[in-house]
Amino acid sequence: MSVADAFRVTFQAEPQTVWRAPGRVNLIGEHTDYNDGFVLPFAVPWGVSAAVSPRTDGVIRLHSLQSDGPPVTIEAHEQAQGWTRYVVGVFAMLGDTRGADLVIDGDVPRGAGLSSSAALEVVVGSALNELYGLGLTPMEIALLGQKAENDFVGMPCGIMDQAASALSKEGHALFLDCRSLGSRNVPLDLAAHGLRILIVDTRVHHELADGQYAKRRADCESAARKLGVDALRDVEDLAGALSQLQGDERKRVQHVVTENHRVEALIGLLRAGAITEIGALLNASHLSLRDQYEVSSPELDVAVEASLRGGARGARMTGGGFGGSAIALVAEDRVSDVELSVRNAYAERGWLEPRFFNATPVDGAHKVTAQGS
Ligand code: GLA
Repeated sequence: MSVADAFRVTFQAEPQTVWRAPGRVNLIGEHTDYNDGFVLPFAVPWGVSAAVSPRTDGVIRLHSLQSDGPPVTIEAHEQAQGWTRYVVGVFAMLGDTRGADLVIDGDVPRGAGLSSSAALEVVVGSALNELYGLGLTPMEIALLGQKAENDFVGMPCGIMDQAASALSKEGHALFLDCRSLGSRNVPLDLAAHGLRILIVDTRVHHELADGQYAKRRADCESAARKLGVDALRDVEDLAGALSQLQGDERKRVQHVVTENHRVEALIGLLRAGAITEIGALLNASHLSLRDQYEVSSPELDVAVEASLRGGARGARMTGGGFGGSAIALVAEDRVSDVELSVRNAYAERGWLEPRFFNATPVDGAHKVTAQGS
């Protein structure tokens, strides 16, 4: 059933609008967004759709096709729990007192680290922007979603996921300067080069992840203060900076500064039409995340190593880390070899069977036509 049909059944009325916003993978530029750095994500074919009508009484009625039971009725923002916080947070950040009826349908693989929460924030922000005539730009909608996640949900994420969901373009990656918020859609024509970006979902998420994310962010902010810069983006003399730091902070700075350079190098290769050469940068990013930033996990490392053994041109963990997914750049005729290699490596260790998805870059948030396309 389409999300619009589900709305009709649930609320016995026509939805006033239907929007869809996608999840994302990040090609490169990991843990750089909250350091005012560079990222290069793109939107993936899985996302969240929302059929929405406005109300006037401040009540939010919310139904998800992924949960059983009747719609949840929220009369005060503080009542929101679990996944509804990502929706209600957007209303709260807008200071909205009108409310709405919403039906939500998501198809982002659960737990794969493909930013279903950002997709949810962006789809709600986009629908409310239209319904209430707010005149927000896609970047302002992304910032609204980030604020909901930071201030309402309490996860201190950067802007990458929401920006990817709001601003991506089919066939392109999104180059984003997280300080100026300037962005550019960079062509990523994988098929023309006989390539694919394979998502390897490890199906594992290590629970300490959320506290560790905040801790990494705090390490970076503390290092920036010691170095006398606004953000690690501003470190130019890496050797000089490292000589002033020790322990974890030293390692975090090494990662962030080199990762920003890797984003720029990768953009340079794409611009030169040398997409087949980006693999080495993906590999270097993974090692840096594993050894310097310490956000990988055994399942991610094995996914990357087995992908490379199977013939991938490069591979790395993607997203926050501690589980979720890795990506591998693979020639089309090697995809089954790579999948087999990863599957075997997991089976040997007695791990859950990994899942594989083909990551083609799709459009960011958009209004869905009446036919439900
Ligand atoms: C999570 C956050 C993003 C970003 C990545 C790491 O996905 O939501 O803002 O920091 O981790 O690059």
